[in-house]
Amino acid sequence: MPERQDLAGRHILLGLSGGIASYKSAELVRELSRAGATVQVVMTEAAEHFITPVTMQALSNRPVVTSQWDAREPNNMAHINLTREADAMLIAPASADFIAKLVQGRADDLLSLACLARPIDRCPLLVAPAMNREMWAHPATQRNVRQLVADGATLLGPGAGDQACGEVGDGRMLEAVELCEAMIAFFQPKLLAGRRVLITAGPTFEPIDPVRGITNHSSGKMGFALARAAQEAGAQVTLVAGPVHLPTPRGVARLDVQTARQMQAAVLPLAPQHDVFIATAAVADWRPDTTADHKIKKQGDRRVPTLALTENPDILAAVAALPQRPYCVGFAAESEQLLQHASEKRLRKNIPLIVGNLGPATFGRDDNALLLVDENGHHDIPHADKLTLARALVGEIAGRLGQPHAPA
Ligand code: C5P
Repeated sequence: MPERQDLAGRHILLGLSGGIASYKSAELVRELSRAGATVQVVMTEAAEHFITPVTMQALSNRPVVTSQWDAREPNNMAHINLTREADAMLIAPASADFIAKLVQGRADDLLSLACLARPIDRCPLLVAPAMNREMWAHPATQRNVRQLVADGATLLGPGAGDQACGEVGDGRMLEAVELCEAMIAFFQPKLLAGRRVLITAGPTFEPIDPVRGITNHSSGKMGFALARAAQEAGAQVTLVAGPVHLPTPRGVARLDVQTARQMQAAVLPLAPQHDVFIATAAVADWRPDTTADHKIKKQGDRRVPTLALTENPDILAAVAALPQRPYCVGFAAESEQLLQHASEKRLRKNIPLIVGNLGPATFGRDDNALLLVDENGHHDIPHADKLTLARALVGEIAGRLGQPHAPA
């Protein structure tokens, strides 16, 4: 699969104000470039104390601009020229002082001047604060940040954790990868703005005894990609995950469960508060009738224990049967006759939309192809990486919301 270029064609004006976190901005330039963006770096004088323009020039492949008095600009209006060609301005790191300056509309250096001079409706401003936790918590900073957001800026972070000063708390600048993902998300169309989306993902694990259990090869990748895509599309997302080792997508609320019954107990009370339910989890069909308290030991006479199984609840069918049901989307992993099996499953579960895929082609992989089946027929989403598929599916779901969801 070729690497996705989610920021292809985007030109980002990256501003650095003074902060230790500037070292992350070097990596950020690389991340943004890898995602296809072109990056023009502007640095304040304070920023130059933390990282050199040489480093930033080498990484961005463009001379860094530091002064409004730089006579190299033919019209001597760097603040105008820079902001007219940018698709967005990102200030990372944004110091407490720089944020205060933005709030006051001051413009006594090139970066603040550019922030003020940018066409507000064409060149959005994103701000990644970076400062000591006391500075972040100070009422003046909090007041300034509220005002900055009220003025239309988008706040990215800050994160929490170890700080360069040795203290621990809120105020760390987000990592380069997180900032790049936030930029990508920022540019996605907000097809699910104001919607709440509930997603199940991964396998379940049904314990036989304290060390063994029944599970399957589901990696959770499709469900996690959908959670990210829905969040990028502006939805408030809750992800109920079986045992998987995947990072939680930014801005997604995650509940970890192990068994099908735990998954159902988490999902059922949440479902009526959501507009959409997407069941991607590969829920184990059966669980052991009883779970042994202690490890089942091998018998000396080589007798093999018999495992009695009980059927697990069907979470998707249970949600679809709720009087206040969200728009329900199911997945059907089949090994053959995809259209027929998916169509039958959609009717059996009484859901408006089902997404078919071939099990062996998807489990654990980063790419797949999908077959969408609803009351009007079926169509394919062609082979792609799972985030691309997830974004396409989010578009399909968004297009179906608003219409009354007739029972299948
Ligand atoms: O019946 P089958 O397991 O093939 O159905 C698959 C769909 O139903 C998926 O969307 C899956 O997440 C959901 N499901 C569920 N609870 C189960 C079994 C399947 O929610 N116990």
